[in-house]
Amino acid sequence: MTSARAPRRTSSPTTGDVPTAAFVVVANRLHVDRVEDPDGSTAWRTSPGGLVTALEPVLRRNQGAWIGWHGAPDEVVEPFVQDGFQVVPVPLSRQELEEYYEGFSNASLWPLYHDSVALPEYHREWWDSYVTVNQRFADKAAEVAETDGVVWVQDYQLQLVPKMLRELRPDLKIGFFLHIPFPPRELFLQLPPRREVLEGLLGADLIGFQVPGAAQNFIRLVHRLTDYLTHRDAITLPSGHVALARAYPISIDAGGFQAIADSPEVIARAEEIRRDLGDPETVFLGVDRLDYTKGLRQRIKAFGELFSTGDLDQDRHVFVQVATPSRERVEHYRRLRDDIDMLVGRINGEVGRIGRSPINYLHTSVPREEMAALYRAADVMVVTPLRDGMNLVAKEYVACRTGNDGALVLSEFAGAARELKQAYLVNPYDINKTKAALLAANHASPEEKTRRMRAMRKQVFRHDIDHWAGRFLHDLSTSEAVIADQADQAG
Ligand code: ADP
Ligand code: F6P
Repeated sequence: MTSARAPRRTSSPTTGDVPTAAFVVVANRLHVDRVEDPDGSTAWRTSPGGLVTALEPVLRRNQGAWIGWHGAPDEVVEPFVQDGFQVVPVPLSRQELEEYYEGFSNASLWPLYHDSVALPEYHREWWDSYVTVNQRFADKAAEVAETDGVVWVQDYQLQLVPKMLRELRPDLKIGFFLHIPFPPRELFLQLPPRREVLEGLLGADLIGFQVPGAAQNFIRLVHRLTDYLTHRDAITLPSGHVALARAYPISIDAGGFQAIADSPEVIARAEEIRRDLGDPETVFLGVDRLDYTKGLRQRIKAFGELFSTGDLDQDRHVFVQVATPSRERVEHYRRLRDDIDMLVGRINGEVGRIGRSPINYLHTSVPREEMAALYRAADVMVVTPLRDGMNLVAKEYVACRTGNDGALVLSEFAGAARELKQAYLVNPYDINKTKAALLAANHASPEEKTRRMRAMRKQVFRHDIDHWAGRFLHDLSTSEAVIADQADQAG
């Protein structure tokens, strides 16, 4: 991605030369990473995520801006232009990193929103820091957004921004999208600042969730904690402001993944991976961030049992697990890493022999092309989170199976399970049934695999990331008409 035209810069009476934009994305992280070149100079490289792929044309067209943290604490970075739009870094101090990001975002909200699969911790100073940082993001968005502009706030780290921003700039259209699950009422009620979080979100015109159940959880909570009027998916605040809460299942750049998977380099690399694994009959693959929500303990245990009982044979089958390092300073994540190292070591030690390890475990991040080669090389993809907002890995695998082959074993508790119904669906807590599903996927006939994969590919290609962003932004820009229409029908 290269820079096209520079977004316009206008003067602000308060700060002088400030970039402004008609379309603004606000996210905890920027879509660019700082990289150091061999000569010691630094540059910004776009991390090729689905979100930026979908929003790049909108950002370019609208001379947009992306507001986010640049990844290093205690450092102020000036705005710059990349990929044809404005990048506006927001600073975080080391203490804010510990309290707002590692603390309230990732040790309170993250586990709570994922069914409390790890125990959430609450500390008042973490919340104070969350408020301070959210206000900083809201202030920045208020400074950057042009009159009557559109601001799209992303994810659980920034749930207070919609309300804060509306107070500063009532002229704006404000959207919010939650990338992770929204918990059921009984769990959310634990959260000490529960009312503040709800009110924060209700500042948006449109609040997007991954699945309809999450939007319903949200509306039920509004009922429980406030006396605001709700009608279907519309919530009316005493000020007259109306917020819509709806589901927009996120997706991937399916065409982009397919093109990478079909490139001669990736095809050759996939063959090389299989050769390096000893040309097994079946390659099972897991690819996840190393997160306790991903069900890695249960998954590895299931494979360990299948290898030790002889249902899988290390001369014919191999399980490759790639786990990206993630949030390594948070205690639960540290413990998980040690547990997985130990579990894999124990199984390979007990079942493996010289030159053969039934589990190939890599604790690393890999480039997109290598991901596509792994997907191509895998006969059975194993995606078994205990809870997941969507799970893009499952969709990426499907997009890369250009021969309509391969099989997907997928957790019922991933948002993706609502769309990928032809996967082998499992309850990841049920290790026996997970083992049975792994074997069923392995033994399915080529015709059966093709039938399932064709249907899943149709779904993923019809509902790709452009479809997702297009639907959300359309509904955001027409939210007033939708609300008026609903009011007419009700009245
Ligand atoms: P989450 O957002 O919880 O990490 P998703 O499955 O929705 O889970 O998204 C993960 C994204 O990270 C996918 O786009 C996937 O390609 C990428 N990814 C996962 N593991 C790795 C890895 N080891 N190396 C590089 N990218 C990875
Ligand atoms: O899916 C939630 C999410 O926060 C994504 O937005 C992000 O890409 C991923 O988890 C990794 O999180 P972090 O930014 O904390 O490394």
